[in-house]
This record gives sequence, structure tokens and C-alpha cells, in this order.
Amino acid sequence: MICKDIHYVGVNDHVIDLFEGQYVVPNGMAYNSYIIEDDKIAVMDSVDARFTEEWLSNIRRALGGKTPDYLIVQHMEPDHSANINAFAHTYPDAKIVSTAAASVMMTKYFGIDFTDRRILVKDGDTLSLGSHTLTFIAAPMVHWPEVIMTYDSAAKVLFSADGFGKFGALDVEEDWACEARRYYFGIVGKYGAQVQAVLKKAAALDIATICPLHGPVLSDNLGYYIGLYDTWSSYGVESEGIVIAYTSVYGNTKKAVLLLADELKAKGCPKVVVNDLARCDMAEAVEDAFRYGKLVLATTTYNGEIFPFMREFIHELTERGYKNRTIGIIENGTWAPVAAKTIKKMLEGSELIYTDTTVTLHAALNDTSRVQVKALATELMA
Ligand code: FEO
Repeated sequence: MICKDIHYVGVNDHVIDLFEGQYVVPNGMAYNSYIIEDDKIAVMDSVDARFTEEWLSNIRRALGGKTPDYLIVQHMEPDHSANINAFAHTYPDAKIVSTAAASVMMTKYFGIDFTDRRILVKDGDTLSLGSHTLTFIAAPMVHWPEVIMTYDSAAKVLFSADGFGKFGALDVEEDWACEARRYYFGIVGKYGAQVQAVLKKAAALDIATICPLHGPVLSDNLGYYIGLYDTWSSYGVESEGIVIAYTSVYGNTKKAVLLLADELKAKGCPKVVVNDLARCDMAEAVEDAFRYGKLVLATTTYNGEIFPFMREFIHELTERGYKNRTIGIIENGTWAPVAAKTIKKMLEGSELIYTDTTVTLHAALNDTSRVQVKALATELMA
């Protein structure tokens, strides 16, 4: 029970290998679903396809013989929508509530849009369950176009769809921000402007509890979570520190990176994060780049361009609107170093400030490049 009249009926997934086909989830994943029990009964979203029986059984157990009147579909991504059909068959009198855009997606996924039993809603529409009145809040591109969030004014609960979600099942204790940040920048990060628009709407509501579709229900210290979402979606700097993201083929670029890290620590940098892009989780590296205000990119010239993992990393940043950061570069090239030029070309159009110092290695560190590394450290700490 989340609060009076609201039950949790979601499931934990410890079998999944990659969430959304690309994100490692060492602590699994939760697909949240809720029931609001009033004169009318609403179920909020379904769960992943592999948990049909567990979810329906959770609903049965929570309702003790009563039947739901509505399935409210806030988001059509299959981790939440896969069981709409199963619900519709199990509860033939229940109505399916969604946006028109979600209804179109139902046809695409299931070949049926429930025309005879659907209720289409848009931003600002309400649905009364009795003492609970639900108000729908359009949240387009957070992070799909059909998304609505739902506010229950009686319980002061915001059902926030994927917003405020995180990786990790609910039966594992772990820090919220770490996996919520990786989730946000991985999945929602491109849509900062749209998240800002929803936060503005949410600011007008009296919210005591946030019920997301992933991760824990949030009810204490909501200002902390909303503040982080505000920072993340406005591309602000969350933490003081410097990230060094690198690739190294034979270890020479890595030596320059480690020298820079030592110099920064010696100068009192509060946090130095070093990510080997060929070996670390790319989503973790992306999260770090957005968390801190300064980023050093260190890579090898490769096929007249840059090393593939660095190319992928920069692409991950630019497609998420990376900006408002200071960038330093360490390039390596034995005969024709072009990595710095390539990096700047890839980042063209992003609002970034470059350090005056660029470190150029011609294969391995030498006295000249050591001086450059120290100059870069001084500039980054200025
Ligand atoms: Fe949790 Fe966008 O699906």
C-alpha cells in the first residue's frame, strides 16, 4: 500500500540482461504498476511481457474479487504496455484510458486500438474515480510523444511515467541518484527542454508522493529529487570535479591521462573521474560527462580520425545536447595527429568552452608533452 487507496502491483525483473536493448542493469529492473481503489478502480500501466501472470495475480490479490474499471496507459513503450491486451481480455468491461497518440501506437503494436472501449484524454482532462479525481498532464517526448503523467489531487500523488525512474529492482538497496542519473541521461537526456516544461507544470501542483514507472516510490525530501531533475534537464553542473574520458591503444595515451589525473589531484581537485571508454559502461561515462562541469577527452588518431570508442562517446554526448561544459583535449598521433581537430569538428555547434592548452603526444609522453599536461591541469583548476 503506497497510501490510502493506492496499491503497488508492479514486478521486479532480475533476468533481464540489457534494458531497452543496451543498458546493463546489474541490480535488475522494476516495472511499476499501481491501483487506485475508489468507487471506480483504476490500474496505472501494465508491465513487461515476461511478467503477465505475476502482474495479473498482483492485481487480483490487491482487489480481492473486485474488478478494475480503467487501465490508464501513460506510456506505450513495451516495458509498460506489453500487457494491455492481457488486461483487456481478463477484464472485458474495463475501459482503456490513453492519449490519442498512444491509441495509434496500440494499433501498431497489437493491431487493435480498443475503439469500443477506449477513453481518449489530453492535457488537463480529468477522470473522477469517486473521491479521487485524476488530472492528466501531457508530457510529450518524456521520452516518447504519447506520454501523459497523472495527478491525483486527493492523495497528492504524481504518477510520473518514466520521469523520476531509475535502473534497479525494488528488492535491492542502492543509491537512488547514481542509477537514476544513468537512467536519465541514457534514456531521457536528449529531451531536457521537454522535461523542463513538465517540471514547470508540476511546480503548480501540491505533490506529496511521486509514483514513477521504474524505481522506488518517492515520498520524503521531494525537493532533492525535483532539484536533481531540474539540474539534469537544464544541463547544469551537478557536482564539482573533472572527468577524463580516454581511449588508449598501447598505453601511452593512458600514461598522459594518469599524469593529468595526478596533477589535478595534487592541485586539490575535489573529484577526478577517469573512464576508459573501451572498457567502462558507456552509459556510466555519459552520466559522468553530464554530472561534472569539466571534461577532458584523450584519444588516438585512428584511420585519419579518432578511435572508435571515443567517436561513439562523443556521438552519445552530442545526441543528448551536451553543452555548458569546459573541454580539454589530449591527442595522440605518431605521424599525423588529427584527433583534436576531429573532436572539435564533432562537437561543432555544441555550446562548449575549450581550454587554451591542447596536449599533443607524438606516440609517447616526452618532456614537451609533460609540460603541456601540467599546463592543462593548471588551466582546468584555474
Ligand atoms: Fe520505461 Fe520509456 O519505458
